[in-house]
Amino acid sequence: MKHNIILIGFMGCGKSSVGRRLSYRLRMPFIDTDKLIERRAGKKIPEIFAQEGEAGFREREKSCLCSLLKERGRKIISTGGGLPLKEENRAVLKELGQVIYLRALPETIYGRLKHDTTRPLLQTEDPEKRIRELMAERASIYEAAADVIVDVDGKDFEEIMGEIRLLYHKWKRRNVRRR
Ligand code: S3P
Repeated sequence: MKHNIILIGFMGCGKSSVGRRLSYRLRMPFIDTDKLIERRAGKKIPEIFAQEGEAGFREREKSCLCSLLKERGRKIISTGGGLPLKEENRAVLKELGQVIYLRALPETIYGRLKHDTTRPLLQTEDPEKRIRELMAERASIYEAAADVIVDVDGKDFEEIMGEIRLLYHKWKRRNVRRR
């Protein structure tokens, strides 16, 4: 099995919450790329966007992702929603491990993020419209970047984690047979 499990998907689809819980369950360390970027930059994401623009944030995101290639051991990695947009990042994701796309409908995301103030891209007059636009742009990119898609609408954490654990054990078994 390619060693890490990586969660991708739109803002608010549950990558960090699912990833953290999964890391307890599977006893694997957890890395959240957004948190790592913030720790390394010494500032929060809205501050990075305000001072360096989205382009500055994307550069930080790319180098954060590349730095994970040097890490040893199997991990659960949750990623920022825009990370797979760069083609070179998608190549790094494939190298890092099995990529799971947590797919959610725009209405699910809007329901979760309508009062959010921490996502610079959604601080607009009409966040619902923005979510729909960004999702339309990104859906096929997430699909192309993923090894597998897990739909999350209407499911609780247990259901989602159950599906991912099944995949994880399948990948592990396949890996044992290949050795
Ligand atoms: C972004 C998603 C955010 C964060 C930044 C940009 C995006 O992460 O990286 O605000 O472009 O979709 P989450 O997906 O964890 O919210």
